[in-house]
Amino acid sequence: MSNTAKLELDGIAYTLPTLTGSENEKAVDVSALRATTGYITIDDGYGNTGSCTSNITFIDGDQGILRYRGIPIEELAEKSNFIETAYLIIYGTLPTQPQLKVFSDLLTDYQYLHEDMKYHFEGFPSGAHPMAILSSMINAASCFDEGLMNWKWGKNKLFDIYVAKLISQVRTIAAYSYRKSKGLPLIYPKQNYKYTANFLHMLFSMPYEDFDLKPEVVKALDLIFLLHADHEQNCSTSTVRMVASSQANLFASCAAGVCALWGPLHGGANQAVLEMLADIHNSGDDGSKFITAAKDKNSGKKLMGFGHRVYKNHDPRAKIIKRACDDVLSKLHITDPLLDIAKKLEETALKDPYFVERKLYPNVDFYSGIIMRAIGIPMEMFTVIFAIGRMPGWIANYKEIMEEPKSRIYRPRQIYTGKTTNHYIPMGERK
Ligand code: ACO
Repeated sequence: MSNTAKLELDGIAYTLPTLTGSENEKAVDVSALRATTGYITIDDGYGNTGSCTSNITFIDGDQGILRYRGIPIEELAEKSNFIETAYLIIYGTLPTQPQLKVFSDLLTDYQYLHEDMKYHFEGFPSGAHPMAILSSMINAASCFDEGLMNWKWGKNKLFDIYVAKLISQVRTIAAYSYRKSKGLPLIYPKQNYKYTANFLHMLFSMPYEDFDLKPEVVKALDLIFLLHADHEQNCSTSTVRMVASSQANLFASCAAGVCALWGPLHGGANQAVLEMLADIHNSGDDGSKFITAAKDKNSGKKLMGFGHRVYKNHDPRAKIIKRACDDVLSKLHITDPLLDIAKKLEETALKDPYFVERKLYPNVDFYSGIIMRAIGIPMEMFTVIFAIGRMPGWIANYKEIMEEPKSRIYRPRQIYTGKTTNHYIPMGERK
C-alpha cells in the first residue's frame, strides 16, 4: 500500500506523505504544503485536522470506543478509581502500589492553598460563576510559586510536584469557589480523606458538623471524575495544548482549558441539560414539544446532551453514566421527574429520523447532571466537576507537548477576506 498521497494544484502534481496511527487511523501530512505549493488548507471547526500525534487517548467515534492508554473506559469504570486513572493518563502506565502511594501522598501534601489566596476569593462578587473563579484562581495560584513564575520546562525537576499540586488544589479551589459564592465558611481538606471524599467534605461540611459521606455518593462522583479524565483533542484540551505550545506554565495552560470548557457547547452542556429538563418539566411538557422545537433550526433550541463531533454512535461514557444514574437514584431512594423526562427524550430522539439520520446520540452530559443533582451537587458546580475530572487529561497533553523535542508554537494560518489596501482618513474627513 502506498504511503503517499497525490495532489494536483494548478496543473502541478505533488506527492504528500501519509501517516498511520497504531489503530490504523490515516492522515495526509500537509506540514510542507504551503512551503511547496503556496496553498494552505481550510478546515472549518477542524473536523478533518489532526493537530498532533498523541499516545494518551484513543476514540473511535463510529464504533463508540474510548480507551485511556489502551485500556477500555468500561474496564476502568468498573475496576479503577479517579486517582489511579489520573496516574495512568499522566504517566502512561497503571501505577504500582509504591508509585500510587507516592502520588497519593503528594496529593495530600499539596492540597492546602497558600493562606493569602483566601483573600483573592473575597474579591469576587457573590453570585460569580464558580467556573470564572476556578480559572482565575488556578492562574492566581501560580503567582504563589516561584518555580511557576519563572517556568522553564526541562530545567525544572519539580514537575511531579506541580502535577500533584494542580490536581489536588483544583479540588480545593473548586470547593472554596462554591463556599464563597454561597457566603459559607471555607472548610479545610482533611489529611486522612481520599480525593473525592475530601472534595465532598470541603463542599458540604460545616465547621460544627462533618458531612455524612455516603459511600454510594463518593463512588458516583469518583466515577464522574474518571469518565471525564480525558477525551483527546476536544476544545478545552486543544486550548491547553495551544497555550502550552508557547511554553506557558502548567497552571496558566490549564486555566485556559477551564475557560474553553465553560461554554454550553462543551463542558457547560451538563448544566444546560438540567436547565433544559427543568424548563420542560415546569412547562408541563413531557418532552414531545421540546423534541419538535429542537428539530426546528429557527426555534433557537437544541437537545442539549445530544450529539458529538466525534461520536456518531453511542458515547460509551453515556452508557456507563446512565446505568450509574439508575443505580445511585435507587440506592438513595430518590425519584426524579427530570430523569423520567430525560429517558423519554432519549427514547423519542433515538427513534426520530432527524436524530437518526444525523447520528445524534446522548453524550456524557445527558445523564451526568441528574446524578450530580441526586447527590446534592449544585447546578452551577456541574461544569466545575467536569474541570476537576479533566485535569489529568490536560496535564498529560501539556506534558506531551513539553516532551516532544520537535514541538513548535501552534500558529494556524487564515485566508484573509477583508478589504485590500485601504488608507487612513483624518477624523474631520470621515463620513
Ligand atoms: N439538537 C438538535 N440538532 C442537533 C444537535 C442537537 N443537540 N446537535 C447537532 N444537531 C444537528 C445540527 O443542527 C446539524 O444539523 P444540519 O445538518 O441539518 O445542519 C447536524 O445535527 C450536525 O451538527 P453539527 O452542529 O454540525 O455538529 P458539530 O459536530 O459541529 O457539533 C455539538 C457537535 C456541539 C456537540 C452539537 O451536537 C451540539 O451542540 N450538541 C448539544 C450541546 C452538547 O450536548 N454539548 C456537549 C458535547 S460533549 C462534551 O463536550 C463533553
